[in-house]
Amino acid sequence: MIVILSFGSQFAHLIARRIRNLGVRAEILHFNASIEDIKKMNPAGIILSGGPRSVLEEGFPRPAKEIFELGIPILGICYGAHVLAKMFGGIVRSGEAREYGKEIITLGDKTPLFRGLMKKEPVWFSHGDSVHMLPSGFNTIASTASSVHTAFAHEKKPWFGVQFHPEVAHTKKGKEILSNFIFFICGAQKDWTIPALKENLIVSLRDTIGESHAVIALSGGTDSLVAATLLHRAIGKQLHGVFVDTGLLRKNEVEEVQKIIGSHGFHDIRVIDAKKNFLERLQGIEDPEKKRKIIGHTFIHVFERAIAYDFKQYPVRFLVQGTIYPDRIESGAGLLHADKIKSHHNLTLPERFGFGILEPLGDFYKDEVRKLGEELKLPKKFLWRHPFPGPGLSIRIIGEVTEDRLRMVREADAIYVEELKKTGEYRKIWQAFAVLLPLKTVGVMGDARTYEHIIALRAVHSVDGMTADWYRMPPDVLERISNRIVREVKGVNRVLYDITQKPPATIEYE
Ligand code: XMP
Repeated sequence: MIVILSFGSQFAHLIARRIRNLGVRAEILHFNASIEDIKKMNPAGIILSGGPRSVLEEGFPRPAKEIFELGIPILGICYGAHVLAKMFGGIVRSGEAREYGKEIITLGDKTPLFRGLMKKEPVWFSHGDSVHMLPSGFNTIASTASSVHTAFAHEKKPWFGVQFHPEVAHTKKGKEILSNFIFFICGAQKDWTIPALKENLIVSLRDTIGESHAVIALSGGTDSLVAATLLHRAIGKQLHGVFVDTGLLRKNEVEEVQKIIGSHGFHDIRVIDAKKNFLERLQGIEDPEKKRKIIGHTFIHVFERAIAYDFKQYPVRFLVQGTIYPDRIESGAGLLHADKIKSHHNLTLPERFGFGILEPLGDFYKDEVRKLGEELKLPKKFLWRHPFPGPGLSIRIIGEVTEDRLRMVREADAIYVEELKKTGEYRKIWQAFAVLLPLKTVGVMGDARTYEHIIALRAVHSVDGMTADWYRMPPDVLERISNRIVREVKGVNRVLYDITQKPPATIEYE
């Protein structure tokens, strides 16, 4: 496996995913992880990620220096490369060659890191500092027009630094560079495969749960359904579950989930209609964070009642959560992403219940969860749906949630998604949805003046939701969607298309 020491880069997860996609386990640790913790993982190599800080700051973030005594390969990326240079006596300067975006590198001396690359290759940068002078024992292996030591390597040890980001798609040969590092330089084994991991998980869940029972709450999302299916495979009738209909779900979601529950032979998964409960508690609430909290608490309340009443005859010892790797890393190692923009309610459930918590998907990224779902024979159509937030449609209605507003946003969203699927756009987009702006504007329909609400359409490209770009939607598709929404959704007379990136905007509106 490969350890990634994160210095807070938004790309740390991307590095891990790229490596896992190449078939090798990759784990993210905080940059100041102790040498004992790192050794415990027995890594074949270490990657030092990028990060927002500068090695020119006093007491700059750095890894335990003993990592250089482990005798394993080390690759520093961007800030990680600066750390490597600085720790061995090199000179890093600020602002000498600020490079953002695409640049062409020219390769120098032959190096195993760049095996199979052309003399010139396009790469992607995002840095203000650069290495001005290499430490002794290091050589330059690539440069650009504005920076000499764009990539460097130690003469004898397997230590490398690259100022650009091999993990982003804009670095054309990034995959080859990472592959060279993990296989050719680190000698890692290709053993991170979903079918094998699935079997191991089933066996270990069976071992952990033994004769007792487990309960899961389904949210309608992919993760909890994959977790439930995995658990069902492992413990069959010892699994119980509730699917809470919050009234904040997408059109037909309850029916779709019920269909899957039916066809997968789950023994005891109950659908609880809590629509009224959620709507009542949300009445008069406009603040987004308050809405999230209320939804989280109401969910816990409904779930608690189910455990206390519906399943009380069973020896329930475990609660199952559909938490995936990025959720676990971000909440556990809070420092990795310094600024938490919105509170996600998904992780607030258990603790005070006094049950054991199982997070069978806690080691996986979303794409791996989907592959696991395919292995478990869940319908592809369901697995490849766009992500949907825990608080559901409530955060896609600006301000107060009412039944009528839910109707408008749900109908508009269904039309939007239906048209995207019809035109083949849906699978090209990472996430698309409609938002209700409860402002009124004037329109004219037939000969009559209208004064009604606005629907905003959002569609984004993203890798993991951390950053996003707006999707360049063909105008004719937009036109058809807009026409249908205004015609078919009562109360809406105007449709807008959102062309804001994240950052500065977030993907959701609240
Ligand atoms: P933002 O709006 O933060 O969204 O740019 C990034 C991704 O996270 C999803 N999201 C949530 N998911 N609970 C969730 O489970 C939440 O409270 C929540 N808020 C945002 C959002 O849909 C996008 O995919």
